[in-house]
Amino acid sequence: MATYTFPENFWWGSAASATQTEGAAHIDGKGDNIWDYWYQQEPNRFYNQVGPEHTSRFYERYKDDIQTMKKLGHNSFRLSISWSRLIPDGTGEVNQKAVQFYHDVLDELIAAGIEPFVNLYHFDMPLVLQEMGGWENRKVVEAFADYAKTCFSLFGGKVTKWFTQNEPIVPVEAGYLYDSHYPNVVDFKRAVQVGYHSAVASAMAIKAFKDGDYKGKIGIILNVTPSYPRSHHPADQKAGRIADLFFNKSFLDVSVKGTFPDELVQILSDHSMLPSTEPMDEKLLQENTVDILGVNYYQPRRVKAKEYMPHPDAPLMPEHFFDFYDMPGKKMNPYRGWEIYEKGIYDILINLKENYGNVECFISENGMGVQNEDRFKDEDGIIQDDYRIAFYQEHLKWVHAAIQQGSNVKGYHVWTFMDNWSWLNAYKNRYGLVSIDLDNDAKRHIKKSGSWFQELALNNGFRE
Ligand code: BG6
Repeated sequence: MATYTFPENFWWGSAASATQTEGAAHIDGKGDNIWDYWYQQEPNRFYNQVGPEHTSRFYERYKDDIQTMKKLGHNSFRLSISWSRLIPDGTGEVNQKAVQFYHDVLDELIAAGIEPFVNLYHFDMPLVLQEMGGWENRKVVEAFADYAKTCFSLFGGKVTKWFTQNEPIVPVEAGYLYDSHYPNVVDFKRAVQVGYHSAVASAMAIKAFKDGDYKGKIGIILNVTPSYPRSHHPADQKAGRIADLFFNKSFLDVSVKGTFPDELVQILSDHSMLPSTEPMDEKLLQENTVDILGVNYYQPRRVKAKEYMPHPDAPLMPEHFFDFYDMPGKKMNPYRGWEIYEKGIYDILINLKENYGNVECFISENGMGVQNEDRFKDEDGIIQDDYRIAFYQEHLKWVHAAIQQGSNVKGYHVWTFMDNWSWLNAYKNRYGLVSIDLDNDAKRHIKKSGSWFQELALNNGFRE
């Protein structure tokens, strides 16, 4: 029997985001964000036409939920602040009911011995700002820095782990390349501008944090998914390198090293795709790198050299440079359709150690989505999610192995605490340690994995 024990004070917990859990989308002065608006416009694009007001209602039930987190051994929990709840128009007046709500949540967490990790932006642009162009507009970058300052000054006494954004590449890809988030634009140049401005906004928030001399650390949460090439053939290797540049190194390099990779800049320049910048940006980005990095990992990206060159007049897309590769024999999550490749989490941590100065980091999301999970309920109504326990254990073995190799990884947060509403997929894929019964007043039930997690956290590891 092997034992996997983790370093003292390892962070055990889970992650969630405001729009996916709070509900109360239209009360107590909250302004609309792009999800509220898009759902009103096109409900049919959402799985079962379920929109962001039908969440697990953390807004009302946070006290009970935090007690359950405590029971499940959490010593930390990542939540996000809803920008449009705190500042309904994105800039200007602060909503006092939101201030009270977030203070109450933070107090409750702290009283339960759970350290709050607070993220400022999880895909939820206030509608008023999106109407001005969202991340494409430099004024929105400044609005984000002001919003960050407001959060630091309101909650800085209670929070010592801050994150500027979650997976900033997702709004770029989903919102400006692949038509799966609002504003459903498909335009490479605009996507580049959105990505660039998100990076500048993050650096401005980090600067405000440092200038304000707040206690604690600030970072960003990235889905630093490796791009594995099909083979050692130079053409496949190049495909892997370029996919990595677009989807991974773009935000990773600027967040940790303060500069964009030269090869990426060259590619963008060759295709006249460089974003518009301001003279002070370079210095700002260089001087305001992260103290800590959150690593979200679900599945790897596999790529190969292009088989057919795109038509010269075809609009530029990342896939101009590589094809996605459907590797035969890969292990799949049969209940969600994503690949499972546990060693990927190790490769990420070793890459951070070897190529990113061993930046302090933690696993900020890792989880297994399952469709129709009720089919796994036992006679007592408890979901017997042994597949999820196995998923966590296999990933944790690799995290443990990375620690043996000197990785600076400080914790492990699962996605997620409780089944939650997930953008276009709504409640299609369940990820929680706790299930919710949507037909029965969102009643909560701890899954088998929840009890397993409790043991894991209490023992600071597991045996197998
Ligand atoms: C993560 C996001 O990448 O994926 C979460 O940060 C999201 O917000 C999660 O809910 C799961 O996505 P899906 O599509 O499987 O429900």
